[in-house]
Amino acid sequence: MRAWKIHQFGPPAEVLTLDNHAAAFEPGPGQVKVQVEAAGLGLPDVFMCANNYPLTPPLPFTPSQEAAGKVVAVGEGVDSALLGTRVLGPTLFQAQRGGLADECLMHALAAFPIPDEMPGEEAAGFFIPYLTAWVALVRRARIEPEDTVLVLGASGSSGCAAVQLAKARGARVIAVAGGPQKGEFCMSIGSDAVIDHRSQDITERTKELTNGEGASVIYDPVGGKAGRAAFKATAFEGRFVVIGYASGEWSRIELPEILPRNISLVGAMPVGFSPELMREAHQDLIGHWQNREIKASNVQVFAFEDALKAIEHIAAGKVEGKVVVRVS
Ligand SMILES: NC(=O)c1ccc[n+]([C@@H]2O[C@H](COP(=O)([O-])OP(=O)(O)OC[C@H]3O[C@@H](n4cnc5c(N)ncnc54)[C@H](OP(=O)(O)O)[C@@H]3O)[C@@H](O)[C@H]2O)c1
Repeated sequence: MRAWKIHQFGPPAEVLTLDNHAAAFEPGPGQVKVQVEAAGLGLPDVFMCANNYPLTPPLPFTPSQEAAGKVVAVGEGVDSALLGTRVLGPTLFQAQRGGLADECLMHALAAFPIPDEMPGEEAAGFFIPYLTAWVALVRRARIEPEDTVLVLGASGSSGCAAVQLAKARGARVIAVAGGPQKGEFCMSIGSDAVIDHRSQDITERTKELTNGEGASVIYDPVGGKAGRAAFKATAFEGRFVVIGYASGEWSRIELPEILPRNISLVGAMPVGFSPELMREAHQDLIGHWQNREIKASNVQVFAFEDALKAIEHIAAGKVEGKVVVRVS
């Protein structure tokens, strides 16, 4: 079995190596083993190379937090009817069995069946971005068609999913991206307007685009100066949704600042919810995909042998949509 592994911490080029003779493993209770078609990569994989991520597993481990493929073995307590089913879901990367290998492990309850017509490369990058966007926008911010959603990092994987899901739910979307090429990408996935954070002031431009009111929902996977500027453009009774810190630092918001405009600070992460809710979310998202309201085809695909290039592509900030590695 082939598996990319991180044996020590450091720059990706120095620590990510391909093991062509990795030892076989079997699923534990409640787990399934998946023959990987494609694996999704993201910033956390970059951070994990350097041990700069809270969920970094013990060494050595195989990265990739999500994947798609066929169930080839089930652990104790798992219905054997799952065998042969194509699924997508989060990998057990924390148990060192991430998706960047011929086989990976998943929790049976989080391995969601996918339609036959869904390509593995789209499925592999579906779970984290879209489920995060669903939890953030549908469950937590409870968006409505009358909302204006300002999406930071809109060309990146979390942002790209949020743009599409917000549009699918009928809201107006203002995307924030760096540079004209990423701006064009954001328009191609359905954004109504784009703010170039390299040349435009996010606060002022958002207000201009909303008749001075600001955006009613902010989706923030970026933090730092961009997150701060977006917070200042949050509308009265708006919801500021905290997703991540792609800029390297979280958004700084002092609690008294949320009072005058009655702003809700909302955290969103697709963990801790019941399996039933997660299945409902998945079904809802697959419905949007089948109706072509979300594409998931905005993937940048790398060959298995080029996994290091894929990680460096993410580290260099070149992501448009989601980075996926084709495994089989
Ligand atoms: N809460 C959750 O459940 C959850 C789920 C997934 C990810 N996350 C977190 O969300 C963050 C983003 O992840 P991702 O996978 O979306 O990353 P990504 O695909 O690399 O996208 C990040 C985007 O952030 C933008 N960006 C980076 N630095 C910026 C800056 N200083 N100012 C403005 N924009 C900046 C970049 O856009 P431009 O090049 O256009 O500036 C880039 O497209 C990470 O911290 C990740 O851990 C959280």
